[in-house]
Amino acid sequence: MAVKKITKRWLFNSLGVILVILIALEVVIAFSVKDYFYGSVERVVYSQAETISGLLSKYNSEGTGDYEAYFRTLVTSFEKRNIMELMAINSGGEVVLTSSGFLPENESMTPDHAEAFNSVDKTAEYIGELNGENVMSVTVIPEGSTADFASFRLVTSLENVDNQITIAIIGTSLICIAIVFFVLVSGSYFINSIVIPVGQIGDAAKKIAEGDFHARLEKKTDDEIGELCETINYMADELGATERMKNDFISSVSHELRTPLTAIKGWAEMLEDSSKDNSIDNATLERGMGVIIGETERLSVMVEELLDFSRLQSGRMVLQPMKLDIIAELSEAVLTFEQRAIREKKDLIYEESDDIIPVMGDKNRLRQVFVNIIDNAIKYSDEGDSITISVAKAKNGFVDIIVKDTGIGIPADQLEKVKTKFFKGNATRRGSGIGLAVVDEIVRMHGGEILLESIEGDGTTVTIRLPIDK
Ligand SMILES: Nc1ncnc2c1ncn2[C@@H]1O[C@H](COP(=O)(O)OP(=O)(O)OP(=O)(O)O)[C@@H](O)[C@H]1O
Ligand SMILES: [Mg+2]
Repeated sequence: MAVKKITKRWLFNSLGVILVILIALEVVIAFSVKDYFYGSVERVVYSQAETISGLLSKYNSEGTGDYEAYFRTLVTSFEKRNIMELMAINSGGEVVLTSSGFLPENESMTPDHAEAFNSVDKTAEYIGELNGENVMSVTVIPEGSTADFASFRLVTSLENVDNQITIAIIGTSLICIAIVFFVLVSGSYFINSIVIPVGQIGDAAKKIAEGDFHARLEKKTDDEIGELCETINYMADELGATERMKNDFISSVSHELRTPLTAIKGWAEMLEDSSKDNSIDNATLERGMGVIIGETERLSVMVEELLDFSRLQSGRMVLQPMKLDIIAELSEAVLTFEQRAIREKKDLIYEESDDIIPVMGDKNRLRQVFVNIIDNAIKYSDEGDSITISVAKAKNGFVDIIVKDTGIGIPADQLEKVKTKFFKGNATRRGSGIGLAVVDEIVRMHGGEILLESIEGDGTTVTIRLPIDK
């Protein structure tokens, strides 16, 4: 698997920073360790040098005996010979005597001898290679030095110290590698716990996008990733439900369109046949024409409703507001249902208000709202039921138009959904399930709201709440 982007970012951001810090730390530790160890060797060598030069200068100031013989004794009887070597050097820079007893065959010159002559405190130090070995050497020109015994030099090998420093550096390097390893292991575990589910979420989302609304994700963790899985599942649920509603909508609309067309076609054929042999009587002709006109009317209302719905969906519906008397509009809408109510043997009661209640609104759209709500009230009630329409002033400058029926009612679990598009709660009555969605949107555009109360079997009360114009 190629290194994915999150992993790459993590490698650069966290691991990169940790690596830089560790390397810097390693360098600092290495230098401090070296300083510390070299420092302690230096202290030992210098204190020894001080002791020797103190003894020599004391002997010289007393001025009693043979200075060179004393110098010689100091070298030959040097006590610390196991850790360092004491050498006597003549003014030419040649080693004349050593505490080990061996004179080096071609002792290479170290620069400290010359430096000591030139320095103020007559002391110089050299750290570096001498005869293939890393050494620290300190040369001192004591008081009373002679040509043969011009200076003494203390030389100690740094091999052991270097070994110790190397061990310390290797040790800390191992610790650093262990830290990096630990960070890598825990980091890749963490990264995988994000990258793998994100990949799965991506796959599921793709499936859903391609129309497979059954794709689901398993919520494995109780964190943001888990929440995301749940959200995606919820989205798939909702999309699936909408898809089902849309399919239902298409089939019910097709059905709605076919029914009037069948009636129109049937009557038209009948009229055509009977016109050939003049066998039709006036009453039948009138009835047939009535059906054709009525059904055509219904079809155009339906098409209008569908167009409205599509306008609403695409946000192309615009209101043409004007100041109007809401009571007058309501009265006109109620009037159009009087005949139908009588025909369907339903009691349409209109408690007309004497007030004039001004509302800023779109005349046709508000009429459409009333027509839809009253249509529902009549449609979803049975013979002998009553539909009562009344008006009441609500608080805060709103007016309530209340359409109350004693019809079949809405089951409690459907009450929330009836305003959503394509939702049809009752398959026994004709309708496409978009009426309330359109009405709700229109009322909302007017700054009002639709309130629904219903008890299944008892009836429904729909309140259209609109702001009164001041
Ligand atoms: N007064 C009512 N009594 C009982 N149920 C109702 C009432 N009004 C609406 N409903 C329920 O709400 C659903 C949605 O109503 P809506 O007006 O949006 O659609 P419809 O009447 O089925 O179709 P359309 O109005 O588009 O022809 C209805 O299918 C019905 O189940
Ligand atoms: Mg309706």
